[in-house]
Amino acid sequence: MILRQPAALLALFVAIGVAGFNKKACAVEDGQLAFNNVCRTCHTVTDGDNRLGPNLHHVIGRKAGSLPDYAYSQAMKDADLVWDKATLDRYISDPEQVVPGNKMKPYGGVGSADERAKIIDYLQAN
Ligand code: HEC
Repeated sequence: MILRQPAALLALFVAIGVAGFNKKACAVEDGQLAFNNVCRTCHTVTDGDNRLGPNLHHVIGRKAGSLPDYAYSQAMKDADLVWDKATLDRYISDPEQVVPGNKMKPYGGVGSADERAKIIDYLQAN
């Protein structure tokens, strides 16, 4: 058992490495990894499954702050916008710029446009 665990861990890291760096890997898989790294602490993409943040199932095309069973900040409820790719890109780069006073915190922002695009592709597929 003790001897097997490092091997399992190694296999896991190799798998993550292959998924992360294999250029042939499908963009949505890359996006899932990026989503898991940056968003999953607070969000799922499962309908009805709200955590600290609202679920992001079919978020593209959703009016901001509109899920009936999630307690949004007043700022998000009053944000008069619909999540499309461009708005999401700006929001996950710097939430405060798009919806001042929102409560998506603590969240540092995703600086890499490439990472943001992967996350948005993943959200579009879910
Ligand atoms: C620290 C927890 C946390 C992290 C990390 C986080 N969020 Fe959020 N998110 C929230 C909270 C809380 C809200 C609700 C904000 C409000 O009501 O002002 C929210 C709201 C949102 C909304 C608005 C949803 C709606 O129904 O209008 C989107 C879109 C969103 N987050 C996307 C993301 C994405 C994509 C990531 C990763 C890149 C991410 N969030 C990372 C906590 C988080």
